[in-house]
Amino acid sequence: MPPLSNLATRDVETLVHPYINLANFRAAGPLIIERGQGIYVYDIDGKPYIEGMAGLWCTALGYGNEELVEAAAAQMRKLPFAHLFTGKSHDPAIELAEKLKEIAPVPISKVFFCNSGSEANDSQVKLAWYFNNALGRPRKKKIISRVKAYHGVTVVAASLTGLAANHRDFDLPLPGFLHAACPHHYRFAHEGESEEQYAARLAEELDALIVKEGPETVAAFIAEPVMGAGGVIVPPKTYFEKIMPVCAKHDVSMISDEVICGFGRLGTTFGCAKLGFKPHAISIAKALSSGYLPIAGVMLPETMYQALLAESKKIGVFGHGFTYGGHPVAAAVALKAIEIYTRDRVFEKAAEMAPIFQARLAAFNAHPLVGEARGLGLIGGVELVADKRSKRSFVPQHGVGARAVQFAEAEGLIVRSVLGDVVTLCPPLVISAAEIDELFNRLARALDKTLDWVSRERLAQG
Ligand SMILES: Cc1ncc(COP(=O)(O)O)c(C=O)c1O
Repeated sequence: MPPLSNLATRDVETLVHPYINLANFRAAGPLIIERGQGIYVYDIDGKPYIEGMAGLWCTALGYGNEELVEAAAAQMRKLPFAHLFTGKSHDPAIELAEKLKEIAPVPISKVFFCNSGSEANDSQVKLAWYFNNALGRPRKKKIISRVKAYHGVTVVAASLTGLAANHRDFDLPLPGFLHAACPHHYRFAHEGESEEQYAARLAEELDALIVKEGPETVAAFIAEPVMGAGGVIVPPKTYFEKIMPVCAKHDVSMISDEVICGFGRLGTTFGCAKLGFKPHAISIAKALSSGYLPIAGVMLPETMYQALLAESKKIGVFGHGFTYGGHPVAAAVALKAIEIYTRDRVFEKAAEMAPIFQARLAAFNAHPLVGEARGLGLIGGVELVADKRSKRSFVPQHGVGARAVQFAEAEGLIVRSVLGDVVTLCPPLVISAAEIDELFNRLARALDKTLDWVSRERLAQG
């Protein structure tokens, strides 16, 4: 391992980084990014990389968007901070809430602002509890999520998340958080089971779980339209069509976590529209501001708002809120981002790019290292396996996915590897057809190098 640069050494000595083996990281050090333009970011040595993950699934408009910068600067000059507590308000938050109601895929009565996807989902759970207390159903509090779901890392959001690394030794999940089966046909369908049959089985299993727990104890079911950080898992055909009646039957409210899928990722404004379901409540973040500033929100139906009204009237106050929730500068940037999305037909153009992106992605299914290349819209996952026929995964300790990420970085492409050696892709929505080609050319070279390394090290042997 080459010695670390001065800046890298200062990093290792001062920062705790999320989602890394902190012990290995001390020797490897960080990749330090200095600036960005379009779909490219540049490291401190000036090397360009295609940002194949739009940062963390968020920089939909790419880098260096001067209109967003100007919106932030103008708002900062005018009013750099104001809050929404105790009846105070400001223009950007009001306008943004109105705009979100206008573009919502289902009737939305009110928007509650916060700062991150985790806070949005945390708030969803608190509001579901508050709602059921207001309705005089104090036992209806359990929340059902799914194995491999990613909903964030606060104590409640991590309890919703269905990934072992987010639970282990953090003493999570909390009681009352349940995980239904992961809707991944490639991994979990029975031999010969069609996507529709698998979806029907998952719906039956969800029904059985709710009945076993007691419907009077289950408040909500939360789902990402396409699971992102769990490995880009597109649900089997008719999944939501079959799941939604189960929720309705047991009066379980359905929350769509649109933190990744919202704002055009699947080619529609919201992911639930692409997947054909109508949630009760929606969580938003990330591309809401194209990732330029932290802002997130919970979009609520009228029935829920009425219950919040009644409960706060009874108690005397609605006791929930974040200092920076609906921050005027972040709200101004989000408003500008939505204006650009609409004016420049960004989602429609992303929908036009999707078949080009998905065709190049699907071609990886022929690669000897790839078990399944899957995706929807402008999101993709490439699952690397030791044996294509039996779908056997690599031993996690071999870090094959992480090695593929390193080879990609050497090729000038930033991607991410998640559990199960799934290399994930989520480029800025403004990517062009030529740039999509270049992204996949670089990834193809990285996968070939990964294959050479796997063969040299004999890692594919059982
Ligand atoms: C679907 C989904 N929900 C919630 C979150 C958590 O968001 P944050 O990291 O802003 O707390 C993420 C983050 O990747 C996400 O992908």
